[in-house]
Amino acid sequence: MKDVNQKNLNRENILSYLNIDKKIKVNVEIFNQIDSTNSYLLNKKQVINELNICIAEMQTKGKGRSGKVWESPKKKNIYLSIGTLLNREISELDGFSLLIALMICNALEDLYKIKAKIKWPNDLYLKNKKFGGILIETKIVNKKLSIVIGIGLNIFMKTNEFINQEWTSLHIEKPFLEIDRNILISKIISEISNNLNYFLEKGFKAFKKDFDKRNILKNKKVLVSNFSSSDCIALDVNEDGSLNLLVDNFKHKVTSGEVSLKIQK
Ligand code: BTN
Repeated sequence: MKDVNQKNLNRENILSYLNIDKKIKVNVEIFNQIDSTNSYLLNKKQVINELNICIAEMQTKGKGRSGKVWESPKKKNIYLSIGTLLNREISELDGFSLLIALMICNALEDLYKIKAKIKWPNDLYLKNKKFGGILIETKIVNKKLSIVIGIGLNIFMKTNEFINQEWTSLHIEKPFLEIDRNILISKIISEISNNLNYFLEKGFKAFKKDFDKRNILKNKKVLVSNFSSSDCIALDVNEDGSLNLLVDNFKHKVTSGEVSLKIQK
């Protein structure tokens, strides 16, 4: 496998590649090492129309979904969190993680022609293996919603004995691709920022068609935490971001908070 010419994370480069509305203020902080970029931003004051960005070369307590650890080796990957304040209720954000996953896919396709897939509700897949995940955390501050979008993407990682599920990285799948993480990070921030207000106005339904093209689960046999039956097929997602399942020939609708789901081999 080719060795990659890795560029360091650089705040000025990230800011210079951004392509977003000038009214949005963007603050970028880069750390060599941090416990978790999400935890850092959750403790920071968020402001409407401002994006606080925290990126690290390494996390010592990287957080995954459902209390899992997100393995975060040094200088190998992207550990990115985006924080802002929204004048919304959490119930108005149905399908938000699907939007974020879609924006990451759009960034990868625009920059590198990579066609990534999404495993509902927030995993990113290449060739049937996970290479990225999203962890969205919120808290209410003065009746407003402080939100932190955490994104972990495996970029240059070639081996990691600690990951106990099938995984991949962009470098493993596309060894000849030259990836500058600064450009990719900027593109992801730009995509999210440029589509956020439209999402808040129209909801996930405005993005559903694009999501459907990336839905890796559609018509796949799955194992779902809440159902003991293994006769379970994932169907499509609804306009509110929930997922339809066919369990023992009966249709069920599940939301992201209530289930975890594995693709059957
Ligand atoms: C998952 O379990 O799939 C979600 C993983 C999210 C990991 C990212 S890395 C940047 C941010 N900081 C964290 O502690 N977690 C998220």
